[in-house]
Amino acid sequence: MLLVGPEDNFNRILSERIGASLIPMERRVFPDGEVCPRVMNEVRGSDVILSLRMKAGRCKPNEYLLEVLFTIRNLREHMNSGEVTLVMPYFPYARQDAIFRLGEPLSSKYVAELLESSGVNRIISITVHLHRIGNFSNLFDRTEAINLSGFESLAEELRLLDLRNPFILGPDTESINWARELAEFYGAEEYDAFTKERDIHTGEIKTTVKKIDLSGRDVVVVDDMVSTGGTMANAVKAAKEMGARLVVSAFVHPVLAPGAIDKILGAGADIILSSDTIEWIGSRSSVVPIIARALG
Ligand code: R5P
Repeated sequence: MLLVGPEDNFNRILSERIGASLIPMERRVFPDGEVCPRVMNEVRGSDVILSLRMKAGRCKPNEYLLEVLFTIRNLREHMNSGEVTLVMPYFPYARQDAIFRLGEPLSSKYVAELLESSGVNRIISITVHLHRIGNFSNLFDRTEAINLSGFESLAEELRLLDLRNPFILGPDTESINWARELAEFYGAEEYDAFTKERDIHTGEIKTTVKKIDLSGRDVVVVDDMVSTGGTMANAVKAAKEMGARLVVSAFVHPVLAPGAIDKILGAGADIILSSDTIEWIGSRSSVVPIIARALG
């Protein structure tokens, strides 16, 4: 088995764990923005795991998607690979899983169809935003789709923090599932979620808090992803105002538009805990062990 991907720690450790040879990849971007991902060695005949992550901050899901699509087609059509398993820890465009306003696209479905048409055989992703889709496989017709939980590794890292009387809090109604999942992996008894409204025209966020006694407690505000940081910052601020002793901001995917981390720290977060589903220097927890287990 071969693992194709950038020669970073994520892929070095993943390839060691599953006993695959690592074939490095170069991710060239031309000055006009066109991408030219290059697989640096022959793969002829072998089944391949392609492990490619988006980069935080640069917020270029389109560039990332083209790199993935071009590499899969190249592997299948020109490099004569066997089956291709894609490790795509963050699935871009998943939030547009419905037509919210007249004339908008059903982006998550279109992305799935593009991946399927590229010739991929199996996709492994982490905590895909599937609120209206239900199951990851529902996005695909013939590709095996595996959605692993990113909250297991967050919970492990959280345990090292030795929290006092912890409470797990989701920043909006949809995040109650994430709060439950994290509480279960971590072993916390109490969790709940605020509610949030986002103006679909301006993007402005309004958080409505619930009456929960957070006084003197250590609160973990948990979400699947942080993009602008607005949703997380509002909930962190409210938790502090409600008397929390310490607030951890925990999320699986550090999408992190510029300024997001400053916003969350400015709102009073004491600790930021995210995983490495997206390349970001601040990630403290790793999803490599759960991906390795699924590939094993
Ligand atoms: C939304 O449904 C997601 O779960 C996150 O809450 C949201 O994407 C966070 O976005 P932002 O950081 O821009 O508030």
